[in-house]
Amino acid sequence: MHDFHYKNGKLFCENVAVEDLVKQAGSPLYVYSQKTIVENVNRLEIALAPLDVTICYAMKANASLGILGLMACMELGFDVVSIGELRKVHFAGGDTKRCVFAGVGKTEAEITDALKLGIYSFNVESIPELERINRIAGKLHKKAPVAIRVNPNVDAETHAKITTGTYANKFGIAFEEVEALYRKAKRSYKNLHLKGVQMHIGSQLTDTAPFVKAVKKMIPLVKTLRDKYDIEFFSLGGGIGIAYQDALESGSADWWQTKGKDFISPEKFADALIPLLQPLGVKILIEPGRFIVGNAGILVTRVEYVKQTPKKNFVVVDAAMNDLIRPALYDSYHQIVPLKQSRTQKTIKADIVGPICESGDCFSHDCTLAPVKEGDYLALMSAGAYGMTMACNYNGRPLPAEILVSGDQADYLRLRENIHTTWKYEGIPQWLLFEEEEQPKEKKEKKAPKKSSRKTPKKQAKSAKK
Ligand code: LLP
Repeated sequence: MHDFHYKNGKLFCENVAVEDLVKQAGSPLYVYSQKTIVENVNRLEIALAPLDVTICYAMKANASLGILGLMACMELGFDVVSIGELRKVHFAGGDTKRCVFAGVGKTEAEITDALKLGIYSFNVESIPELERINRIAGKLHKKAPVAIRVNPNVDAETHAKITTGTYANKFGIAFEEVEALYRKAKRSYKNLHLKGVQMHIGSQLTDTAPFVKAVKKMIPLVKTLRDKYDIEFFSLGGGIGIAYQDALESGSADWWQTKGKDFISPEKFADALIPLLQPLGVKILIEPGRFIVGNAGILVTRVEYVKQTPKKNFVVVDAAMNDLIRPALYDSYHQIVPLKQSRTQKTIKADIVGPICESGDCFSHDCTLAPVKEGDYLALMSAGAYGMTMACNYNGRPLPAEILVSGDQADYLRLRENIHTTWKYEGIPQWLLFEEEEQPKEKKEKKAPKKSSRKTPKKQAKSAKK
């Protein structure tokens, strides 16, 4: 369920007409609904209430500072994958002691910093990482809280690029090796606190069956680790999927009772897993990202051109794969709807494409929509997760602005990036620049160019290359 809906033919986010926002903030523009985020969290909390559960929001889904601030207000934990993310949680007012630190490549600096800040647990992905954490903790005279990430070798039945729990994937430690590793760690790694065990089989799971399969496989292991090493928690990872296909329709309860009745939901997740988890008597962690923010955000874009060719129509919009890479990277579908509903029943078929110089820069192939013209606005639904966090400056494009709506209020989470700041960390190598001393003195004085504080690339560099 979410809070994007049409009122008098206009798309609203909560009580605000999205068109009013885009007219003020420009396009492309991410718009998020606070109410939807809060309700998603509440639904998870209520459904899982019979368990001793901590929700660690997987901030890789949406790491906007204001969104993190909102999660901190709701007293969520966080699943972080870099020291950058951990520091950002800290800055946003989140509690680092409720953070789990995942990822296959944690550096020495990251482990050191995380130990100094104090986190809930490292989710450890390999034996060398376990050794490294033990060594660094020893140096700091600390006990590092750790959980081994188990690779249960269960297929999540999702897209190959977001499947993580099989032996073809780089993640975790093979199920069969885990118990022996805890034994070894207890014996040899004196600076570790064996605090829990973790798994994460994949993302965008639309059915509970793979979760059930993986949890059933994990249960005997969790029991053994609980009895032998007194572990405190079992983390199930993230992965609860959202409705991309009928994204707009899935805002209403009706859809969930009819077309979406078999689709995964917090309630179905809880019904399937609570009976398995409750008898374990350990704390349960979940690491949802997409479920919390995915359907709470849209990407608004302006139609620039309608291009008709003998083969097909193209609607060229001002958003592109740099703003939302999911369709280009995973062939994923985002429903596209107009900000203003059309009065006609007429439809056209068109590819909705961005301006980037790649054929992959296409949001939808053969999309059926009401006729559009230059200046109209469209919304890409379910863009709240893995949208802005994966955006980049490709093709010299500044990052879009982000706005959060709450009731009838709206405010920026992020201003549109300034074109000039897109190259702020870049420089031209010294040898390509005019050294002012190289120029004849009189000439330099004569020119006295006011602009000379900005060095220009040597013309010779160009000719030297020929
Ligand atoms: N925990 C771990 C260890 C993870 O690797 C992930 C996601 C999550 C939790 C959160 O999963 P979620 O609840 O959001 O499904 N960029 C891709 C998704 C990559 C997911 C990576 N790991 C996409 O746009 O679909």
